[in-house]
Amino acid sequence: MSGGGLVVFGLVVKALLEVWSVQEAGVASQVACAARCSQHDACGGFQWNTDACRLVVDASVPGAVKGMLTNVFRLNSYKTNYILYEFPLPPGGISPTVAFETCRNNSMDLVPNPVTPKDRASLSIRLSGGFYIDMIRASNGSYVTWSSGVLVPDTDIYGWLPGEPEGGDQQCMAIGGYLSLYLDCLCSYKDTNAGVICVYSALH
Ligand SMILES: *[C@@H]1O[C@H](CO)[C@@H](O)[C@H](O)[C@H]1NC(C)=O
Ligand SMILES: *[C@@H]1O[C@H](CO)[C@@H](O)[C@H](O)[C@H]1NC(C)=O
Repeated sequence: MSGGGLVVFGLVVKALLEVWSVQEAGVASQVACAARCSQHDACGGFQWNTDACRLVVDASVPGAVKGMLTNVFRLNSYKTNYILYEFPLPPGGISPTVAFETCRNNSMDLVPNPVTPKDRASLSIRLSGGFYIDMIRASNGSYVTWSSGVLVPDTDIYGWLPGEPEGGDQQCMAIGGYLSLYLDCLCSYKDTNAGVICVYSALH
């Protein structure tokens, strides 16, 4: 996204959950509103309404207010070189294993763990209550990527949902709720609130 990389936004008509946002003053156009979002290090999308520019930001941004927003342009540029793709909500939910396969079978990968406030903010705009990430708990208790076994620092897990982690045999990892916090679950468990978010590589 830096160095002249492509910045991609996609319209999300109705996000399932409330998101955090701030109103920007002095923005004259939708294009200028998009630019404000790209430049803001905790912005993951924007809403433009005639003459009002609202940035969807990470919950940690001072002054951010929580509310339902419709017609939000989600920043689909993710990490430095991925584009987000969200499947329509699977009727009856989906398990981590089937979500992983759904991405793979469509030449994509399950979304990697979000680390920056910007990536968390873009994933807060979604069709599902929760989604699985490319991260599992290894047998020694460390976290590694599911796709390739690369170690993920514990400090990258920025907060757990109440009652989580449940540990034990629950190896798979998901993010859920309007604060987008972590939970663990069985990789075969079909969660009725879960959606599928994948990534593919952006061309450079
Ligand atoms: C993915 O493809 C494999 C191999 O064709 C198939 O067995 C599996 O059921 C597919 N899974 C999904 C979720 O599409
Ligand atoms: C635990 O296992 C992972 C994956 O095999 C490995 O990368 C990591 O170094 C191990 N951690 C410890 C503390 O041994």
